[in-house]
Amino acid sequence: MKNCVLVTGGAGYIGSHTCVALAAAGFEPLILDNYCNASPKVLERLARISGGPAPRAIDGDVRDRALLDRVFAEHSVAAVIHFAGLKAVGDSVADPLSYYDTNVHGSLVLAAAMRAAGVRTLIFSSSATVYGEPDHSPIPESAPTRPANPYGRSKLMVEETLGDLCRSEAGWRIALLRYFNPVGAHESGLIGEHPQGKPNNLMPFVSQVAVGQRTQLTVHGGDYPTPDGTGVRDYVHVMDLAEGHVAALRHALAHEGLLTLNLGTGRGASVLEVVTAFERASGKPVPRTIGPRRPGDVPAYWADPSAARATLGWEARRGLDDMCADSWRWQSANPNGYA
Ligand code: NAD
Ligand code: UD1
Repeated sequence: MKNCVLVTGGAGYIGSHTCVALAAAGFEPLILDNYCNASPKVLERLARISGGPAPRAIDGDVRDRALLDRVFAEHSVAAVIHFAGLKAVGDSVADPLSYYDTNVHGSLVLAAAMRAAGVRTLIFSSSATVYGEPDHSPIPESAPTRPANPYGRSKLMVEETLGDLCRSEAGWRIALLRYFNPVGAHESGLIGEHPQGKPNNLMPFVSQVAVGQRTQLTVHGGDYPTPDGTGVRDYVHVMDLAEGHVAALRHALAHEGLLTLNLGTGRGASVLEVVTAFERASGKPVPRTIGPRRPGDVPAYWADPSAARATLGWEARRGLDDMCADSWRWQSANPNGYA
C-alpha cells in the first residue's frame, strides 16, 4: 500500500476526477468524505471508469481527529490531497463561522493528525480567489493576496498556516494549488459537477439551460472593459486540473518544502465565448439576456501558469471546446446528477 493517497473530499467534483487521475498514475486513492456536497454513487462510477473495484471510501468528517488518527493507523498513507471544504462565496458571507470551521479548523485538525502520524506530504486545494481583484493579468503567484470574502480568506488562512508549518520543522512537503475556474467533466460522461439548487457558477448554469432545465442564462454584466463587454475568466478543464494534482504530488514526494502554484490555462474566455462554444458543442441553443453586474465580480482575470510548467512540467492540454463537449456529455446523460 506504498502508493496510498488519502483524498479528503474525494467524492466531490474535483476530488472524484483526481481519483481517476491518481488511479491512472498508479496511486491508490482512499477517499474520506462526509457527503455534505457529494453522492456516494460516485464510487460506483469511478469503478466503471477504472474497470476495477471502487476506491476505498470512509464516510466521515475531516474535523474528526479521532477518526483521522484511526485512518492513519489502519492505512499506510503516503500523502494527503485535501479537497474537503465548503466553496460557495455567497454562503460564506452569510455564514462565515461554518466556512472557517470546515475550511480552516478542518485543515488544522488534518495537519495535526498528519504530523502525529508522520505523514508530511500534503497537496492543498486553494483558489485564485486569494488574489481578489488583481492589478493585472496574467496573475503570477507573487501577486498580492487580498481575498474579498470569507471563503477566500479561509483559503488564505490555510495557505499561511501550512506555510508556517512547513517552515517550523523539516520533512514537510506541501503544495498549495491555486485553481482558476475548473469546469468540464471526465470524457466518459460518468462523473461531473452537479450543484445543489440553482447554480452560481457559469458552466453548470449554461449546461442546465442547454438541457432545458432552465429557460435562459442571465449574463451578469455586458458593460465591462473587455472585448465583448462580458466577464473574462481562465476556465481550466477538471481533468487537466486532476493531472496537475498528480504532477504536484509526484513533485512533493520527491522534494521537501513549500510550493505555491497557479493551475490555469493562461488564457481568458468571456461569458459570451463560453456560451457560443457550448452551443457549438451541444448543438442546443442557450438563450441569454444581459443583466446587471453581479456584486463583487471582477471584470477579467487569468493565470500566469508558467511556474507550474517550469516546476511540474504540467500544462493544461484541453481547450474550451473540450470543456464544453465534456460538460455536455455529462449533463445530457445525467440531467439530475447522480440522483
Ligand atoms: P465539492 O463540494 O464538489 O467537493 C468538496 C467535497 O468535500 C464534497 O464531496 C463534500 O461532501 C466534502 N466535504 C465538505 N466538508 C467536509 C468535511 N467537513 N469533511 C469531509 N468531507 C467534507 O467542491 P469542489 O469543486 O470539488 O472543490 C474541492 C476543493 O477545491 C474545495 O476545497 C474548494 O474550495 C476548492 N476549489 C474549488 C474551486 C471550484 O471552482 N470548484 C475553485 C477553487 C478551489
Ligand atoms: C466564482 C467565485 C470564486 C470561485 C469560482 C470558482 C464569486 C464572486 N467568485 O468565481 O471565488 O473560486 O467561482 O469557479 O462568486 N456569470 C454569468 N451568469 C451566471 C453565472 C456567472 O454571467 O449565471 C459570469 C460571471 O459574472 C463571471 C463568469 O460568468 O464573469 C464566471 O462566473 P463564475 O462561474 O461564478 O466564476 P467566478 O465569478 O470567476
